[in-house]
Amino acid sequence: MAAMDATDAARILEESLERGLAGIRSAGSLDELEAAQVAALGRKAPFSGVQRSLGSLPEEARREVGRRVNGVREALRSAVEERRVVLQEAEGRRLLESDRVDVTLRGRRPRAGSLHPLTLVERQVCEIFVRMGYRVVTGDEVETDWYNFTALNIPPDHPARTEKDTIYLDVPGPGDLLLRTETSAMQIHTMEGQEPPVHIVAPGRVYRKETPDPTHLPVFHQVEGLAVDEGITFADLKGTLLAFAKAMFGEDQRVRMTPDYFPFVEPGAQLAVSCFICRGRGCRTCKGTGWIELLGCGMVHPNVLENVGYDAERYTGFAFGMGVERVALLRYGVPDMRMFYEGDVRFLEQFERVG
Ligand code: DAH
Repeated sequence: MAAMDATDAARILEESLERGLAGIRSAGSLDELEAAQVAALGRKAPFSGVQRSLGSLPEEARREVGRRVNGVREALRSAVEERRVVLQEAEGRRLLESDRVDVTLRGRRPRAGSLHPLTLVERQVCEIFVRMGYRVVTGDEVETDWYNFTALNIPPDHPARTEKDTIYLDVPGPGDLLLRTETSAMQIHTMEGQEPPVHIVAPGRVYRKETPDPTHLPVFHQVEGLAVDEGITFADLKGTLLAFAKAMFGEDQRVRMTPDYFPFVEPGAQLAVSCFICRGRGCRTCKGTGWIELLGCGMVHPNVLENVGYDAERYTGFAFGMGVERVALLRYGVPDMRMFYEGDVRFLEQFERVG
């Protein structure tokens, strides 16, 4: 700015102030404000030109223009600061807004697992007997002939022993090893290990050579029960199972016993409960009879007591065994036992949730 007089300087300063203020006030973001500040006060701004050429003005004008330079600079700077505060507040509000949480929104329920229906039924059966003073025992799924058959008074020629029904293991061991076909084997293990009184339930997996169909599986679950003491009678068996049926299926339950044969009990019986679907009126589940066969039971055969070294003159007892799949199928109205093993979550989700 070679030839500048006081008038030029004053005009440039006024323009700088006006334009600068307009730029600063219209800045819509902190970046734009930065640019407006550079445009108004930066080294290339007309304002800076005036500042640099102050020295070439006569003394009197220099003082005058100098004051004005300071005034314009101050005005522009304070306009920048003012605008900065406004923009920072807006920026802060924007951040808060984008970070906002709607506390009135419903929560998202985490996907919880549920217990398998067979686990539910097995636990419930055991809990009912535990409340009556029974102890829960479990044992191995691989058994010897003694525990699964011989000690249970099952004769050597009994058809259940054949390869057609029982899965034998092809491994060297103490006699024939097999996959237990019934939890009744736990009766023998328990009585061998303790003196009467005995009150146990034994849940567990059992194996049979079966082709799967809606009511048969090659692997399924049973809960065995055994009570041995002095003076136990058939009335105790019936009363115990009635109490169980009421706890499991409802207070209005009735039970019916009909004779049946199992080598390890005498007399042996089949226990039916009044149909809890139709309440005894007759429906598809009970095949119109009003009764559902639930389990096998009876008074422990004296031979069994003697096989474990108990005094069969002094002690009597009762035993029972039920299929967990069968109870679950009746209980939940499941049409096919195989559904319990398919692992389809759409099926499994429908049972009681955990937590
Ligand atoms: N073990 C028998 C079965 O698998 C069920 C059974 C019947 C168990 C009578 C018992 C009983 O304890 O007394 O079919």
